[in-house]
Amino acid sequence: MAESFFKWDKERLTTHVDAMDHEHQKLIQIMNRLYERNEAKASKTELTSIVRELASWTVTHFEHEEKFFDTLAYSQAAVHKKIHRDLIERLKGHQAEFEKTGVLGPAFFQFLKTWLTAHIMGIDTKYGEIAAKKSA
Ligand SMILES: [Fe+2]
Ligand SMILES: [Fe+2]
Repeated sequence: MAESFFKWDKERLTTHVDAMDHEHQKLIQIMNRLYERNEAKASKTELTSIVRELASWTVTHFEHEEKFFDTLAYSQAAVHKKIHRDLIERLKGHQAEFEKTGVLGPAFFQFLKTWLTAHIMGIDTKYGEIAAKKSA
């Protein structure tokens, strides 16, 4: 069994909002599956369908997250949404590149990893703090 590409680390990644933590875990599962199937040299057809699943789930997750933080007095909401738009653009860029070349290179996986650590730890945890205060 290959080493997982990305491990869920509650201490570092929790937003303290269960629904969002579950969605992040689902994203990580898809990323790990993509990594493992790519390492196993799966067909382009199979990899394409996982990349599409990842892209569509990312869009859905961002929609859910934005709906959620719109219910909070979250002053960074507009900036956070802008970051989501940029991430989707970059993800779609990588996706288009892959669909053209059939290759998922290190730059793609590096992007996924950075996105997760930087975005979940640095940005998503912010609405988590506000949500925690609200329910306290
Ligand atoms: Fe986010
Ligand atoms: Fe998120």
